[in-house]
Amino acid sequence: MYELAPSMLSADFNILGEQLGRIEAKGVKWLHIDVMDGAFVPQISFGMPVIKSIRKKSGMFFDVHMMVEEPGRFIDDLKACGADMVTVHAEACVHLDRTLQAIHDAGMKAGVVLNPATPLNCIDYVMDRLDMVLLMSVNPGYGGQSYIKAVTQKIADLRKKLDDAGYKNVPIEVDGGVNAKTVDEVLDAGAEILVAGSAVFNGDIEKNIDMFNEKFAARS
Ligand code: DX5
Ligand code: ZN
Repeated sequence: MYELAPSMLSADFNILGEQLGRIEAKGVKWLHIDVMDGAFVPQISFGMPVIKSIRKKSGMFFDVHMMVEEPGRFIDDLKACGADMVTVHAEACVHLDRTLQAIHDAGMKAGVVLNPATPLNCIDYVMDRLDMVLLMSVNPGYGGQSYIKAVTQKIADLRKKLDDAGYKNVPIEVDGGVNAKTVDEVLDAGAEILVAGSAVFNGDIEKNIDMFNEKFAARS
């Protein structure tokens, strides 16, 4: 039910393979991969060649968060380099419904991402196409930012909305500022998949993962 999705953006790229090997050896099943285009968000991170390269050694579930204008342009490429799930921002897609269909047609799972200020009703007419909803709890673009408190109520509202509409099995992922201080609040509100960048890769990686696993175990 619960999953930790470490965000590769906070890894040490100088020893990327080694760090990904460590989290996988610790039993982490999901890897959150932040693709940034320098247009939808201010930074450029990494793209297909990097995903393709890490796919060779990793069996983790690749959760690719596209912080890119019109991500529909890259769906076939993402499939070819080994993505398992692609999440796209509602704010970045003119034809959101078509983009979600295209992700499924390519054989991947699909999710919508909403920025902190984007209302939940953006998903009203695409709920049947969603394998997950990702709520940003920071404004996307950088790791290491502080959790935006207003998102806690938004998580609870979204959980209710999905449940009421008959989508109890669609999980909520939360991304940004999730750490030892905020994890309880985020889980209490109804999130099941937690993205954590700095809270996993800064300091002792194994100990950091233990902290999240203990939180999950206490609720399972
Ligand atoms: C932010 C990215 C996040 C980021 C999270 O734009 O989408 O995935 O890496 O980093 P932390 O957990 O440090 O806030
Ligand atoms: Zn992300």
